[in-house]
Amino acid sequence: MTKTITVFGATGTAGSACVEELIRLGSFNVQVLARRPGQQEKRSALAPHSADAKRGIYDRWRKSGVEVKLADVTDHAELIPALRGTDYLVSCVPINATESQYPLIWAAKEAGVERFVPSEFGAIYEFEQFWPTDTIHRAMARQKAFIRRMIEFAGLDYTIIPAGFWPEYYMLEPVMVMGDGSQLVSWSTGRDVGRIIPHVLAHPLSRNAICPVAATAYCTWDELLALRERTLGRKVERIHLGNAQWKAAYERQPMGGLKELMAIGILATEGAEGMSLFANWNKTFIPDFRGTPLDELFPNYIEPFLAQFRQQLIAAGELPAA
Ligand SMILES: NC(=O)c1ccc[n+]([C@@H]2O[C@H](COP(=O)([O-])OP(=O)(O)OC[C@H]3O[C@@H](n4cnc5c(N)ncnc54)[C@H](OP(=O)(O)O)[C@@H]3O)[C@@H](O)[C@H]2O)c1
Repeated sequence: MTKTITVFGATGTAGSACVEELIRLGSFNVQVLARRPGQQEKRSALAPHSADAKRGIYDRWRKSGVEVKLADVTDHAELIPALRGTDYLVSCVPINATESQYPLIWAAKEAGVERFVPSEFGAIYEFEQFWPTDTIHRAMARQKAFIRRMIEFAGLDYTIIPAGFWPEYYMLEPVMVMGDGSQLVSWSTGRDVGRIIPHVLAHPLSRNAICPVAATAYCTWDELLALRERTLGRKVERIHLGNAQWKAAYERQPMGGLKELMAIGILATEGAEGMSLFANWNKTFIPDFRGTPLDELFPNYIEPFLAQFRQQLIAAGELPAA
């Protein structure tokens, strides 16, 4: 029987790409759990969507057969009926709304949902939660690992999808390379993360499993930056930072999005030898999945994202105006 997937956080970067890929594939019934207008709006980095923009997105999806269910997502009395009939619940909430998943777990259990896919899509948090240095990112990793335990405690199946680095977040110049640039890293753009989710879920080995993907590329920092230089036709400014330098940069940086990135620098340069945070699950299990070609990625996706990201950081006072 065709499974029904409900996407939460659906208008976000990963969420919207997931819905669009589900529509394209046509192999699942697709639902969206939409938050009532007026509920607190957050984004991982970019400016929130307006209510009108969201209405436009929902209307487009409805025309493709998606059922959009509106609910007060803090209230189990509305959440439980909204989730009835869902087999897989995919959460794509932003990094700063990780805690919004707690009421969802309870409601999913009560509604008879089979599997919960929490909003992860970064490092392997089962490792990072025990990293020696306490940072804001490790605190978030601990919560994400805790949420996975809540899902198990509720008796739901889970699929955990670490996705490595979203390259669009790490390319502001000078690029701060984590380590000497020669280590293999999983790269997944936010859109490729969303696109790969249905493919991972369609694989039988994704049930109660951690499936760390490299949805866009599996290559070193040096290789990725060499490609960026080729596509832009110019040199990309960069600096290489080791663990002590990331720690110093983190200490100096006031709270905000850039501090989060500094914390990720500490994480990436602090792992024990052989305890890689990255992997390439899709190469083995879904070899036919294709991420965005790298030569399209920089001009069409990463550079436009960086322009918006830079504006957000300037507006937040984290970067000086040029
Ligand atoms: N590894 C990396 O480098 C990296 C980078 C970025 C993000 N990530 C991870 O990827 C995941 C998804 O991030 P994203 O950037 O795709 O998110 P995003 O685009 O910022 O998602 C925002 C969407 O989440 C929903 N939302 C907003 N406020 C909410 C709230 N208070 N409570 C619940 N939902 C809310 C909204 O959708 P609706 O209104 O439709 O519900 C909104 O459109 C996160 O877990 C994040 O940690 C990883």
